[in-house]
Parts: sequence; C-alpha cells; structure tokens
Amino acid sequence: MSGYVLAIDQGTTSTRAIVFDDSFRVVGVAQQEFPQILPRSGWVEHDPEDIWTSVVATVKAALADASLTAGDVSALGITNQRETTVIWDRESGKPIHNAIVWQDRRTSERCRELVQYGAEDLVAERTGLVIDPYFAGTKIAWILDAVSGARQRAESGALAFGTIDSFLLWRLTGGRVHATDATNAARTMLFDTVANAWDDDLCALLRVPMALLPEVRDCAADFGETAPALFGGSIRIGGMAGDQHAATLGNACFQPGMMKSTYGTGCFAILNTGSERVRSGNRLLSTLAYRLDGRSTFALEGSIFIAGAAVQWLRDGLRIVERAAETGSMAARADDTQDVYLVPAFTGLGAPWWDAEARGAMFGLTRNTGPDEFARAALEAVCFQTADLLDAMRRDWPAAGDTVLRVDGGMVASDWTMQRLADILDAPVDRPTVLETTALGAAWLAGRQAGVWPDQDGFSTRWHLERRFEPTLDAVERGRKLRGWSDAVRRTRTNG
Ligand code: G3P
Repeated sequence: MSGYVLAIDQGTTSTRAIVFDDSFRVVGVAQQEFPQILPRSGWVEHDPEDIWTSVVATVKAALADASLTAGDVSALGITNQRETTVIWDRESGKPIHNAIVWQDRRTSERCRELVQYGAEDLVAERTGLVIDPYFAGTKIAWILDAVSGARQRAESGALAFGTIDSFLLWRLTGGRVHATDATNAARTMLFDTVANAWDDDLCALLRVPMALLPEVRDCAADFGETAPALFGGSIRIGGMAGDQHAATLGNACFQPGMMKSTYGTGCFAILNTGSERVRSGNRLLSTLAYRLDGRSTFALEGSIFIAGAAVQWLRDGLRIVERAAETGSMAARADDTQDVYLVPAFTGLGAPWWDAEARGAMFGLTRNTGPDEFARAALEAVCFQTADLLDAMRRDWPAAGDTVLRVDGGMVASDWTMQRLADILDAPVDRPTVLETTALGAAWLAGRQAGVWPDQDGFSTRWHLERRFEPTLDAVERGRKLRGWSDAVRRTRTNG
C-alpha cells in the first residue's frame, strides 16, 4: 500500500481536499468556497448540496493536482466544521432543511429556557458543555419543529441527523454508513463523554428522537469505503474528527498540558488534560481531545466565534483592506497613541462569557482613527480573546501555567499577529512548519488506521518548529492593554 493519504477539511467558509505523502508533505491540494446563507440577523445556514458538490469537486481536483487516482491513495480522513446540523431523509438522501451553522443564534431563547429550567448542571455533568445555541442539540429540535411532519418522521426512523462529518460519510459511502466519531458527537449536547454513549435524559430534555442519531466510533476506525463511481475507484475511510480535534492531533498535542490554538473563522484553543475530564469553574468547555483505541483523551476548550472573520469583515464588509494578508503591515504602522478596541461579538460572545445576545462594538475611536487602527484592533482582538481563554485555563487547571501555545490556521502566517499574541499572552507561541495541521490530523488518523503512517510517538517526533515567538512586551504596557480590553468587554456584555 502507498503512503498517500487524502484528507477532506470541510470548513465554515470553504472546503479543502489535500493529498499528503508519507513524509506528510502536501502533494495535491484543492479548495472551493461556497455560499453563506444569512436569512436573518444572527441566523447562518449552508445548503448541504453546496457542501457536497464542493467536496466531490475538491477531492477530484486534489487527486488531479497530485497526478494520482483513487487507487493510489491508501486512506481518507474527514475533518469538519463542528456543530453544524443537517437532517436528511434516509430513503432519498435529501436534506429536509438547510444546515444550521454553528454560528447561528436562532435557538438562544430556547437555551435561556433550558437554563431557567435548571438544566445547566445536568448538561455540564454529562457532556462537559455549557448551554448555548452553538451546539447541535437545540438546532435539531428547531428543524424538527419547523419542517412540517419532520418530528413524526424522525420518530419513525425515516430521517437521519448528522454533523457535517456524518452527512458526508453517508453521501461518500452511497448511503451505507450512518456514523460519526466521538469528538463530533461531543458537540451535540446529547452525548455523555464519560459513558461514551448518547444520553437518554438529554435527548428527552432537548426533544431529540434517538432514532435520528448516528452510531459513534473512535476517531480512527473503519468508517467504510467511498462509492466506486464517485472518484473512479473506492477509497477506505479510516479517520474522522471535528476540525479543532484534528488540529490538536496535527499539532501533535498528545501529552497532558500541551495546547494548540487554531485561527480560522473563529479561534479554538484546546488544552490536553489527559484521561481526566476537568470540570471547568470558568465557563470553558470540558470536551474530548480525541478518542483512540477505545480510550478517551479529554481537553479544556475555549471557543471564540470570530477571529479571521473579523479580518473578513474589514475586507468584505467595510472594504478597507483588499487582501487579508495586508492587515499585519497595516497594524504595524497603526498610531501607537490611539487605544482602539474591537470586541467582535458579531454572533455573540463565546468562552468564557457565553453571551448570545451581545453584539460587536468598537471603543476609543477619534477623528484620527483610520483603516490601520481598525486592522490593529481586529488582530489584537484575537490576541486578547486568546489571553482570556488562557487565563481561564490556568485557573481551571494550574498545570496549564507554563504551557507553550502551538498555533495553526490562516491567520498565523502574519508575523505581526503572532508576535503580538506572544506579547499579550506573556507566553511563547510556536508556529509549526506544516500549517495544514487540521487536514494533517485527519490524514494521520486515516493513515494510522490503514497502517501506512506511524503511531503517536513516530508522528510526534516529526512535528517541526518553524519559528518560536517569545514575549517581549513590558509588563506595565501589557497590563494597561489588558485592562483596556477588559473594560471594552465589560461594556459590550449583556449578561455580566
Ligand atoms: O466549532 C466550530 C469550528 O469547528 C469551526 O471551525 O475552522 O470552520 O472556523 P472553522
């Protein structure tokens, strides 16, 4: 068998397919954006058919880019935007509604009711999560109530639910496999991560018929084969994990205390806490890092909804930058005497505030504020939010005290942002040589399952540092900036 492994990275704004060789080098890549559907303020949907079309097209294009055929590839790994919810008809394979995207806030009222009802402890104890519209559970119930006849068809077993991994697996296997992996299941608010099973009480509480749910497997497992007609030959599917979990693997954070942060649409920091599920006292998520060989490795996660999306807003919304990559140099020449803060609560605030009603705000604007200061405020917001997460992690789990942050995702190409991140965190920031860590993590799961790639130890020794950013900002200035940020957040929150 060859060492070529294919990864599908189905993200919030685009789909990527990447072929790696057995030295973890990218030998073929393709990417396609797809439409974001914004029916109302705070609502975000995707057409699952757009996602599916982009997956088929990018897999074909990546194979062509690598000059390979399906038969040359030993295994396929899938990684995906998490929480985004699809319900489809098992017979026709057709979705009954657009996918409701993780950023969508339409179920915030329902979540408030659940909190008032006193469900927070039960949810935290079983799933490690807080009650928030972010997770799939309340989205499922919303679709079942909104689509005529859906609830009854769900109860009779005619419909299937899946996060994007599961929907793609169903389609890729020609409707033969309805499964997910434990990391994606852990984002539904319906899955007990200690018992490793769907939870009857939570399904009843959230009004989700259990007949809808996929079977849950380890992240590296036999997930079936792609239907031969799709890519001119079948490919074995050996790995699945939510994108942040795949990035944790791709960044080789296998030991307790290791931490990664991915800067894509949002920013998600994951701290490996080993076999211990740490209950957060600071409103972080106690989630799964990954599940391998029947053993769960847990993590504390901080989820920030807007990171790169703030830069996208400067580019596509305000149109004050042409290319996202320009923002680093703009920030570098911004006026140091202006303290401009952006709190990018465009879809509410995630961890550690969990304020679904908050909306974005800017502070400190003067007549002299221009595009450069906006760019700096957008990039610094990402750094400040990461600092809030790290601070909460250190309070929850003191062993996180002197961790080094491994980073990945589109924004980390900016040296200015990474240096500012190290300065604001007062901790070193490590940027790896392979920046495609999410896809690499999914490929590693599949390659390991197929027996063509090394195990954890072998993989870890081949993780390489490209550059370490050491903190250089003096403590007084750092403290002043952090106080300014805290004040801006305090003034933006609606639940504080
Ligand atoms: O939880 C949402 C997350 O998985 C989305 O990731 O990379 O599409 O921003 P990304």
